[in-house]
Amino acid sequence: MYCVRNITEDLYWIGGNDRRLALFENVHPIPRGVSYNSYLLLDEKTVLFDTVDWSICRQFLENIKGVLGERKLDYMVINHMEPDHAACIEEIVLRYPKVKIVCTEKALLFMHQFGFDIGDNVIQVKEGDTMSFGKHNVAFVAAPMVHWPEAMVTYDATNGVLFSADAFGSFGALDGKLFNDEVDFDRDWLDDARRYYTNIVGKYGPHVQALLKKAAGLEIKYICPLHGPVWRNDFGYLLDKYDKWSRYEPEEKGVLIVYASMYGNTEAAANDLATRLVKKGVTKVSMYDVSSTHVSYLISEAFKYSHVVLVSVTYNLKIYPPMHNFIMDMKALNLQKRTFALVENGSWAPQSAKLMGELIEEMKDMTILESEMTITSAMAEKDEDSMEAVTDSIVDSMK
Ligand code: FEO
Repeated sequence: MYCVRNITEDLYWIGGNDRRLALFENVHPIPRGVSYNSYLLLDEKTVLFDTVDWSICRQFLENIKGVLGERKLDYMVINHMEPDHAACIEEIVLRYPKVKIVCTEKALLFMHQFGFDIGDNVIQVKEGDTMSFGKHNVAFVAAPMVHWPEAMVTYDATNGVLFSADAFGSFGALDGKLFNDEVDFDRDWLDDARRYYTNIVGKYGPHVQALLKKAAGLEIKYICPLHGPVWRNDFGYLLDKYDKWSRYEPEEKGVLIVYASMYGNTEAAANDLATRLVKKGVTKVSMYDVSSTHVSYLISEAFKYSHVVLVSVTYNLKIYPPMHNFIMDMKALNLQKRTFALVENGSWAPQSAKLMGELIEEMKDMTILESEMTITSAMAEKDEDSMEAVTDSIVDSMK
């Protein structure tokens, strides 16, 4: 049984959802599942835009057959070669042997590297090339490192559709609702869209900025990403988020507190700090246990907020391993322009504030507040002035 939706009169969403996969890229938890979007255009020629992950190939093939009817498939445009979209390319060639594959030179190289037997029915395209499928004229726009080197996006000038590859995508399965105006995006999708962007594409902010500049020159009526809802209005909302994330500007003036606590004493200090902040009027405070929160959520929150407080025990005279992992992930994803406060705990040789500070200083445009604080085993009355000083320095730096 096929299950598709019209985007325009002659353009169909023919993707599907995976609600069984626990970890996207075998790393990031996706409790709400994920959609793999693919699109089929019925013009004088028939054109498939990207394929899907192998897990939903059967549904995808039924969808293609259902929409094509008796027609043959003429073209398959491949915008991105990561296997969550490219896995079914060979299957399409097997079932529609006359299909012409349209892709960049690098995408073709990747098809061979992945071992796809696709024959030589391939049209290589590059930035600025155009093709006509009848009524519809498309232009190919290079999007290198958003987030793979072969990536491109395809713009259909006839109906204003931008096939944006991974850009503007999100974690989360589609529960029948395809368009952004059929969901409460800000309430139900934004956190997953941010977590998707920051963890998958976050490292490549300058490349996303370059793509946003190219997109600004296009008259866009639909944004069709490879994951999550299709956008057909309110583009300013989405573009503003992408602009901020890719320039590493915080969305909110607020404080992310991440703590590493073995027996609860460091957690108690983090609670004390959060309470002091709120009492002084800083209510945008989010607190997480680094040991029980997957790092992808911490990364997303670190991109969201202007301030990050790391509260950590010392472990083997080093940084507590999950906290070290979080800092290294922030570094790997190129996070910048944040203000940090550091609180350490150590029963005999506290080291973590110094070591965390050294790693943060290696990152771009980070500020570390001077009022660092050391707790020995558990916070006591003698520590209150220091905690108050840390609180004040965070509050002052937010003015
Ligand atoms: Fe959704 Fe980069 O693949």
